[in-house]
Amino acid sequence: MARYLITSALPYINGVKHLGNLAGSQLPADVHARYRRLEGHEVLFICATDEHGTPAELAAAEAGQDVRAYCDEQHLIQKRVSEGFNLSFDWFGRSSNPPNHRLTQHFCEQLEKNGLIEERVTKQIYSIDDGRFLPDRYVEGTCPVCGFERARGDQCDNCQTLLDPIQLKNPRSKISGSTNLEPRDTAHLFLLQPKMQDRVRAWVDQSTDWPHLARSIAYKWLDEGLIDRSITRDLSWGVKVTKDGKPRPGFESKVFYVWFDAPIEYIASTVEWSEATGGNWERWWREDKGAKDVTYVEFMGKDNVAFHTVSFPVTIMGSGEPWKLVDRLKAFNWVTWYGGKFSTSEQRGIFMDVALDLLPSDYWRWYLMANAPETADAPFTLEHFQQTVNADLANVFGNFVNRITRFAETRFESAVPDGGEFGELEKKLEDDISAKLQALSAHHAAMEFRKAAAETRALWVLGNEYLQVAAPWTAIKTDRDRAAVGVRVGLNLCALFAIVAQPFIPDAAGKILDAIGVPNENRKWPSGAGERLLDALPRGLKLTPPDVLFKKVEDAQVGEWAARFGAGS
Ligand code: 2FM
Ligand code: ZN
Repeated sequence: MARYLITSALPYINGVKHLGNLAGSQLPADVHARYRRLEGHEVLFICATDEHGTPAELAAAEAGQDVRAYCDEQHLIQKRVSEGFNLSFDWFGRSSNPPNHRLTQHFCEQLEKNGLIEERVTKQIYSIDDGRFLPDRYVEGTCPVCGFERARGDQCDNCQTLLDPIQLKNPRSKISGSTNLEPRDTAHLFLLQPKMQDRVRAWVDQSTDWPHLARSIAYKWLDEGLIDRSITRDLSWGVKVTKDGKPRPGFESKVFYVWFDAPIEYIASTVEWSEATGGNWERWWREDKGAKDVTYVEFMGKDNVAFHTVSFPVTIMGSGEPWKLVDRLKAFNWVTWYGGKFSTSEQRGIFMDVALDLLPSDYWRWYLMANAPETADAPFTLEHFQQTVNADLANVFGNFVNRITRFAETRFESAVPDGGEFGELEKKLEDDISAKLQALSAHHAAMEFRKAAAETRALWVLGNEYLQVAAPWTAIKTDRDRAAVGVRVGLNLCALFAIVAQPFIPDAAGKILDAIGVPNENRKWPSGAGERLLDALPRGLKLTPPDVLFKKVEDAQVGEWAARFGAGS
């Protein structure tokens, strides 16, 4: 048994996430966590809301709420939605909770001890009318690179260039709209990343288990050369800056930059978990306390890769303490809405809470993983969604289960039949199934989600092909034993197909396994070694055919949703 620490990129607190966000980190992380648990490994799956920074403050202001109250409310909403999607986090923490404050301050103090922090006076934009500095998104203006007039202080949404507010032309305050702004001197802490450049590069060189996308992004940053990075901001909501455990003089109205404290929350959320459950967080994070044998796997969208392969490792390595570093990393491209952007304000696209009102979570889970944005961006369209779930879930898998369980009910007293022997057909099927199972396990292990979904579907197709030939409904007329074999194999296939579908569609898989009476301890991932794959269910085992597993998505629904969610616009 191995140990897997799995984290998903932490969703920002500023509102419910859309289906594209879900597909790019939380959902694949969940599928992988479920797969590893089914294999019998010890898994700790951690996530949290990312609650600091200007996005949180601005969203709270827009909602007319105090930022803490806003975050409390939004955290609960995101937690409920993630439960609705069956995301099996062991802990869903909050970056605003005390463990993250303590750890963030600890890391900064360690970095400073190791000569990696420097206090510098910098020019920041000060708003005379608002009586405060305007960091990051508090200021908007014209992009110095592309001329876009609504560029944010931290990034231009038009050309994606990362910016410093001071670079914007014609800046104006996001708070008051005032242009009565001037650059003023103020002190900030800088993390001296170039000092760690060689160590980070050496570490990336030996991290051969990362996919191409992650490695190429890390090398791009390293090749461009790391820069000293400001890790504090003029804000009140966030982690306070300390020195020797006390408020740092001159930093009373400053906090750490959200991207400095957010990844530390992976550790801090694990501390929250241990405080709540009595678990031992150090066993997962400290190499001197048992974490050496942990495989740490991170999931994220491509925009987060540099922070996880370079910035966070600088913090971790620079601390000089034996913290766990990422071993395997899976990065995703974007799911787009008909090739464009999801947008809350423009009501474009489907967001997680609304998705759950429309259909059970398994439909979305299946589609998003079968079309995971692994090698390129993947457009979500309602038409493709309808076609995929109707074909894969309703026609291929749902019909298979329905057909064979109903037939067992009417002709074999709702039980796994005894009698008859395996023939050539069953032996060949067993070989084909074993080969496909092996491939499926390899895809899951490699975190190749599209391939894993395709292989799962290919198994279901094999089952349908078998039933087509074995045709117990015809055999029963002349040879009851032959029909018994067909039904027995069919029911075993139902159980096996549901077992291996659990990572993708846990609700439907659970319903099927309940219906066939497979106890929990027999729902583990098939090891493939010496198992009687097609004869595992006890003969005589009673079953109850499940209700319709997947209703087809109708054209009328697609039409209605397309209008409501701005399809193609
Ligand atoms: O891009 C995002 O949505 C960030 N909130 C991800 C943070 S991941 C981690 F580092 F905290
Ligand atoms: Zn621009």
